[in-house]
Amino acid sequence: MDMLGIIRKKKRGEELSREEIEYMICGFTREEGGIPDYQMSAFCMAVYFNGMSDTETAALTEAMAHSGDMLDLARFGTRSVDKHSTGGVGDKTSLIVGPIVAACGGVFAKMSGRGLGHTGGTVDKLESVAGYRTGLTGEEFFAQAERTGISLIGQTGNLTPADKKLYALRDVTETVDSIPLIVSSIMSKKIAAGAHNIVLDVKCGSGAFMKDEESARTLAQKMVDIGKVCGRNMAAVITDMDVPLGFAVGNALEVREALDVLRGANIPDLCEVSLALSAELIAMCRGVAVKEARYMAENALFGGAAYEKAKEWFTAQGGDAEAELAHAEFVREIRAGKSGYISHMDAEKIGRAACELGAGRKTKNDKIDFAAGLVLRKKTGDFVREGEVLCALHTSCEEKLAAAEKIFCSALEFSAEKPRKKKLIIGIVR
Ligand code: URA
Repeated sequence: MDMLGIIRKKKRGEELSREEIEYMICGFTREEGGIPDYQMSAFCMAVYFNGMSDTETAALTEAMAHSGDMLDLARFGTRSVDKHSTGGVGDKTSLIVGPIVAACGGVFAKMSGRGLGHTGGTVDKLESVAGYRTGLTGEEFFAQAERTGISLIGQTGNLTPADKKLYALRDVTETVDSIPLIVSSIMSKKIAAGAHNIVLDVKCGSGAFMKDEESARTLAQKMVDIGKVCGRNMAAVITDMDVPLGFAVGNALEVREALDVLRGANIPDLCEVSLALSAELIAMCRGVAVKEARYMAENALFGGAAYEKAKEWFTAQGGDAEAELAHAEFVREIRAGKSGYISHMDAEKIGRAACELGAGRKTKNDKIDFAAGLVLRKKTGDFVREGEVLCALHTSCEEKLAAAEKIFCSALEFSAEKPRKKKLIIGIVR
């Protein structure tokens, strides 16, 4: 067996065997004398054009999942839960779903990622909370999950090294948006992270990697099927990401909004997506129907148990859910130049405007400005009068305001007619 033969087969659109896929991932992960990046890049491009069968995708996922450490959550039996979002703008649902599900008896013991491109990451958001420790030891992580039902840290150890290497390569070879490669990247991490019950939030729209409904459905179905083959309970909720979720985009701003929701604020789209994801997880980990699970989730959120759980969680990890969060030194309001309905808001551009203000990284070593970001006052479908405030930009660096304002303004389109309301929950795959 050799890598040239594997590339040749994929180039001709032939199906690879499990052994060939394991050989390739094992060789690519090896530090020295393994499969070089240029051969792996050729393989990715062959997959980009010729795809992979479901059997091949499952084999690739499992080989990548086993390329490093595997987290063992068996001590929590069938109560362990995990959630993954394919990446969105203003997506702070983990901060709401975690406490809801933990308050309903699940164990949300989870490793989260940092921001990627224009999309935010839960670990960056939590680091905006003074004192919150995203780097617990293994012992602390498990003990806290046992005691409180919730423990959320950054990626540690040597989980899925094959994905780390492959993702970096795909990023620079124009092969990110290949469904089998996305499926294996996401699902290998979820399988290695050990939870028995997994819900995926598959985002669809201008702020997501999947821009159209058909590809979001295909991605959701394939990830659910592979999770099941690997013995996990699975559900995927396909949600709209044509507009940012909630009003706040940026780390401390998003934590504040998530805590506001847990304290009872009604932010309809954010509440709805959080409750839909929570209901799927509660149904799986408590073995109840989704309708009953939804009722349990609503009770936990609106009755205050989820907020109590969030306070317990933040305190256990060194933070304080009631403490002040970072405030930006400079806030600029952006006003409408004309009257009309907002007919479209490009969520990706809004994410980019927040990054420009300092909420995300442009290079690997950039430091995040936790107070930076933006707060929308109007969203798609709203009528605005000339001069009304559309949004407030927040930053600690005044020079960043002009460029961010330009990007924000280029994200909006206006019309004289009210646009048709889009569905927020596009579909559920179980
Ligand atoms: N998120 C991932 O983790 N991997 C992908 O390939 C795309 C999004």
